[in-house]
Amino acid sequence: MVKQRILTGITTTGTPHLGNYVGAIRPAIHASFDDAVESFFFLADYHALIKSSDPQRVRESSKEIAATWLALGLDTDRAVFYRQSDIPEITELTWVLNCNAAKGLLNRAHAYKAAVQANEEMGEDPDCGVSMGLFSYPVLMAADILMFNAQKIPVGRDQIQHVEMARDIAQRFNHNFAEIFTLPEAVVADDVAVLQGLDGRKMSKSYNNTIPLFLTEKQLRKSINKIKTNLLEPGEPKDADDSTVFHIWSAFASSQETSRMRGEFENGIAWGEVKKQLFELINGELAAARDRYSRIMDDPAYIESVLQHGAERAREHSEALMQKVRAAVGIGSLT
Ligand code: TRP
Repeated sequence: MVKQRILTGITTTGTPHLGNYVGAIRPAIHASFDDAVESFFFLADYHALIKSSDPQRVRESSKEIAATWLALGLDTDRAVFYRQSDIPEITELTWVLNCNAAKGLLNRAHAYKAAVQANEEMGEDPDCGVSMGLFSYPVLMAADILMFNAQKIPVGRDQIQHVEMARDIAQRFNHNFAEIFTLPEAVVADDVAVLQGLDGRKMSKSYNNTIPLFLTEKQLRKSINKIKTNLLEPGEPKDADDSTVFHIWSAFASSQETSRMRGEFENGIAWGEVKKQLFELINGELAAARDRYSRIMDDPAYIESVLQHGAERAREHSEALMQKVRAAVGIGSLT
């Protein structure tokens, strides 16, 4: 059977929160148990350098993200799980792709354009604070993807353009040199919710409205109590569709439990009671993983050994592919 190859990366600048869990980590781990797919998941630590100049944060985030995936049950004998910087062929391929990527293509990247626009609005030089890392970010991402001939790239909406750029760059290379790269496609799952944060906007570190994934029970309860509600009293009917607490509830509950809760809203359940039940629901789903997480975080040597095992597996692919690429472009031994 020819397996479908799925690949995705996580930039190592943050601490995983419930939005990452519901929108990306949980569905990715789930999909990795499908026998029809081969999964590649990696820590995008070179991407982290674009956003962060805090070495301690990048290191800590790499550790937290790796421990999170392991605690949540990723089977690293099935999925290839590695750290981008352990695969030197990725930065090598990035250079070759840089020589094949049109500057005009990268000028159109949303992240770069947003930075330029913000500068213009402030009356600054358009490229003020824009590093070459930010500008060529999509090329590094193309190398991540094309290196492993990945077909499906699960990403958030903000990353679709980058996957399309990877496809463009691959096409151009294949046309100019040799048919080496598989053309990747972004997959944005419509069924996985974009989770709302404490204030009802999308849960995101940039809005400072997140609920971190592995809080202690006490902190989790406190954090859930901060979710925005309104002033309706116990006994007054409440609109479930307009409620962040209900929205988060439905990301964790079965469909039966979701309809039951909808009924409770109509019957005027008290906000305090909804939040208590939400805490129990989320805590029930995460308690065992939380214990594993804290044990794994205390054992960096274990995390490191898992990543090294992943790097070995990944490099079987990347070394072979890079050899083809070097040969195709005329780099290498004369004999
Ligand atoms: N740029 C992605 C993000 O910020 C992370 C990432 C890096 C990635 N390389 C990738 C995602 C390759 C998918 C495929 O979310």
